[in-house]
Amino acid sequence: MAPMRMTRTPGAMQRWAGTWRREGRRIGFVPTMGYLHDGHVSLMHEARRRVGRGGVVVVSIYVNPTQFAPAEDLSRYPRDMKGDRRRCREAGVDMIYAPTDDVMYPGRGEGRYSTYVVEEQLGRGMEGESRPTHFRGVTTVVTKLFNAVLPDVAVFGAKDWQQAAVIRRMTRDLDFPVRVVVAPTQREKDGLAMSSRNAYLGPEERRQATVLHRCIEEARRRVRGSREGVPAEALKGEVAATVSREPLARLDYVEFFDPETLEPRATVGHGSQMALAVFVGRTRLIDNGRV
Ligand code: PAF
Repeated sequence: MAPMRMTRTPGAMQRWAGTWRREGRRIGFVPTMGYLHDGHVSLMHEARRRVGRGGVVVVSIYVNPTQFAPAEDLSRYPRDMKGDRRRCREAGVDMIYAPTDDVMYPGRGEGRYSTYVVEEQLGRGMEGESRPTHFRGVTTVVTKLFNAVLPDVAVFGAKDWQQAAVIRRMTRDLDFPVRVVVAPTQREKDGLAMSSRNAYLGPEERRQATVLHRCIEEARRRVRGSREGVPAEALKGEVAATVSREPLARLDYVEFFDPETLEPRATVGHGSQMALAVFVGRTRLIDNGRV
């Protein structure tokens, strides 16, 4: 097995990708912001499954500044390149692409970087409402990463359901020859969705953070117990009440919607998707599930 490599510039990444393509090897890609956990590792395994042993798996590690608003957690976002390299190596990754801000957004601070990619529909509600510039940063960086890695398949986590829908739409609208795969959320034993941001939680916050998963399970029970569906407003009230019972938790939003179009549903029946964002202390967590 060839040793795992690491590259840091789009030019070098493209040259590797070009070589692999000429050799007829498929490229599977997992974009990440690092601080890798078992959820990310499951995406790497999915990428490997898609490209086979003769293919190549690339993981990008880049904390993308354009998807953070000025007041958000960019500067304290957790980083651990040494641990990340180990996890990638153990997962059989072939290459880490870890560009720097200078090569991704040269001169951005001085107004010399001025091109962004915007999806104008699916990214409007939910995360887009709470974090208005977030998806513009995500679609821009994913475009740049696709152009560097030239993947056949890119694997995203279902925990960021809306992000996956936005990226799938962007990929289709802009004719990227990339198959977007969405892999299931990995959870801790008590149901908390795996996320790099869980590292921010103190012990009591960590305990209360299970409220997101509990809200999904409660809503699912309610919806599955009803033949004609449940009014979304009633379910939202129940979620708000459950969250308010945790002293350190504050509901940001909860929505019930069509899993493909993300269109909100007034009456929630089987097969609807639910997503919510909750602050636990200063940490903002998201989760979603089919109800
Ligand atoms: O989901 C993430 O970790 C990020 O939003 C992504 C897709 C790597 C873009 O920075």
